[in-house]
Amino acid sequence: MEEMMTNRRVEESAGPNALKFRGTSNRFRTSGLYEAAGAETKTSVSPAPPSSPKHPTFTNSDIDELAQIHLDFHLPRISKVIMGGVDRAGGKAKPLKAPKKAPKGEMDEEDKAFLEKQRADAKAKAEMAAKAKAQRAAQITGHLNYPKGLLAGQVAIITGSGQGIGAEAARLFANEGAKVIVSDIDAAKANAVAENINKSGGSAIAVAGDMLDSEYLKTLVKKAAEFGDGKIHVIVNNAGYTWDGVIHKDALLITLGHGQQMTDKQWENIIALHNTAPFKLVRQAAPFFRVTDGEPRCIINISSTSGVHGNAGQANYGLAKSGINGLTKVIAKEWGPKFGVRCNSIAFGHILTRLTAAKEEGAFVTTPDGEKIALGIPNGQGAKSPDANNDIPLRRPGTATEAASSILALASPLCSYITGQRATENRAEL
Ligand SMILES: NC(=O)c1ccc[n+]([C@@H]2O[C@H](COP(=O)([O-])OP(=O)(O)OC[C@H]3O[C@@H](n4cnc5c(N)ncnc54)[C@H](O)[C@@H]3O)[C@@H](O)[C@H]2O)c1
Repeated sequence: MEEMMTNRRVEESAGPNALKFRGTSNRFRTSGLYEAAGAETKTSVSPAPPSSPKHPTFTNSDIDELAQIHLDFHLPRISKVIMGGVDRAGGKAKPLKAPKKAPKGEMDEEDKAFLEKQRADAKAKAEMAAKAKAQRAAQITGHLNYPKGLLAGQVAIITGSGQGIGAEAARLFANEGAKVIVSDIDAAKANAVAENINKSGGSAIAVAGDMLDSEYLKTLVKKAAEFGDGKIHVIVNNAGYTWDGVIHKDALLITLGHGQQMTDKQWENIIALHNTAPFKLVRQAAPFFRVTDGEPRCIINISSTSGVHGNAGQANYGLAKSGINGLTKVIAKEWGPKFGVRCNSIAFGHILTRLTAAKEEGAFVTTPDGEKIALGIPNGQGAKSPDANNDIPLRRPGTATEAASSILALASPLCSYITGQRATENRAEL
């Protein structure tokens, strides 16, 4: 119809009865229709000389007649195919060659062949589309899981992986083919993380214990090596928390119940957990890292932007999280040249875990001597204040999954030439 209208428009613009039939629409190319209209079977070439016998001049009524012939000729055939042989054709049919009549309700041979070809074409098309889809899916999977997971065949200890960033790292590592040792002081949570990984088709064990206990560190390395058939490839030093206090507080304020200034215990506890424990764990695992079997080995230490920029109330944590960056560079230089061990740190800013949740939610950890340390940030302060994200380029905190993804990235072969570096996720260092 659209073509007919287009032709009409051409005709109108050229004046009545002056339409040159320039170019032949698909509808009018059908052999037979031309014969019926007294035209030649061959299609015309545009532009054509008006006098050429091969390009006869058509009037408007010629075109209408051709259209009618076309409809009369094809509609019954199409209807028969669609309606299973029911002849719905009406109007003044002007058949050119009488089509072979098929008994009502049946298709003639030509229709059958046509239908079969259509079906075969559609099937071939669908098969090609399915093949292309499968190829694309395999390509994407290949990129994501190279060769069978970014960490296929590797054995990884992740400390503090009972929840938060560590638990997400454990899940992502297992998803990429690593055998994961879930280490945490909270046995129930560590077991749950390992169980979930195993249920999802991954491979993990929980080894619960306190990073501040040197005996636990020995057990952790021993069990990890057993689980890894004598190999350990990755350590993520992630276990930690904050225990804040200002350096100095007026005696009057202390008397009035505004808390204490930072105590020696606070100071020593945080440095022991964030510096001494990672050092002892790495030292304990040295025999599994100082090897020359050609397999990748790396250590990732979790730092904080408090250790990069400082943060009021976190003298202990700021020092510890800065110190771990120094330890990172030392390990890279001691174990890189001969053994190819990579060591990097990541300084997180504001990640949504219980450490940055409202203190009022009541999360706490217990020190080895039984003291309870409240975790979180009081509502309205620090990361809980309205302008908390103003110095974050993305103006939002990160999720534990986003934080864990950067740990995975650093552990993966995609970063095989990155060592001795500190990545800073989130807070501006632009
Ligand atoms: N959340 C943040 O915004 C943020 C920012 C910067 C750095 N970090 C660092 O990221 C790491 C993970 O923190 P998170 O936010 O996931 O906290 P989280 O409290 O959710 O998880 C920390 C885990 O460490 C475990 N843990 C604590 N002390 C331990 C000990 N003595 N022995 C064994 N396990 C112990 C806890 O049981 C807990 O499961 C920490 O080192 C933290 O300092 C966090």
